[in-house]
Order: sequence, then C-alpha cells, then structure tokens
Amino acid sequence: MNEALIHAAKAAYQKAYVPYSKFPVGAAILLKNGDIHTGANIENASFGLTICAERTCLSHAYSMGVKKEDIVAMAVATPQSHQVSPCGACRQFMRELVPLNTPIYLVSTKQTDEIKNDDLLPLGFDPDDL
Ligand code: THU
Repeated sequence: MNEALIHAAKAAYQKAYVPYSKFPVGAAILLKNGDIHTGANIENASFGLTICAERTCLSHAYSMGVKKEDIVAMAVATPQSHQVSPCGACRQFMRELVPLNTPIYLVSTKQTDEIKNDDLLPLGFDPDDL
C-alpha cells in the first residue's frame, strides 16, 4: 500500500464538485515513475452528466500523456466510514485503461481494502471483443 497515493485520493475528494449529492469521491493513480494523478467527481444540474472521480482521474491522466502500462496502483477515497467501490461505468472504464493486475485501494475513514482491477468486473466487455 502506498501512503502517498492514499493521501492524494483523500486530498482529491476535497476538490469534488458535489452540490447535489454532497457525496465527494476522490481517485488517484500511481505511476511507475512515482508520479500521482488525481480526479474528483464533478456533478451537473443535468444530473446524468455527472462524471465520477475515477473517470475524471483517468481522463485527465490520459490527456496528460499517461499510458496504461505506466499505472501501478489506483485508490478511490470517500469521507464515508463504510467501504465505497467504483460504479459499473467506472469499472468498465478502469478495465480498459488500467492494467488488470493493478491493485485498487478502496479508502474509507475506517479502513483501506484492496482488490485487483480484474476482480471488479467479472466477464467485462473488452476491446478484444470488438
Ligand atoms: N461517484 C463517484 O465519483 N464514483 C463512483 O464510483 C460512485 C459514484 C459519485 C457520482 C456522484 O457525484 C456521487 O458519487 C453520488 O452518486
């Protein structure tokens, strides 16, 4: 477990734009070179346009030139005392953009759990299926 990564995911949720749900989420990825990229959920008055923290993080990182093979770990953090795990849309996004063997840390105020990216979306739809 990488403390800097966990810390970054927690710091990220403090930047969330969540006037409607008041449910901030932060995500962070750790790269091989030690760099960390973060993202938070960004909501909209047209609720369906909301972007989750995980997808903000990965879209921003890829836009900065990050490649899938650069990513060695990912963390998703909330200020909740119970475990929160990525929604279905984010699991699909992560399946394609984060290596399948990557540890994903689910960070609550009480504990941090670890799950492998591949285990988040069994029988997921892959680019190879096209
Ligand atoms: N949310 C995330 O950012 N990531 C998830 O994986 C689950 C849900 C956000 C979306 C919305 O802004 C708020 O949490 C409540 O659903």
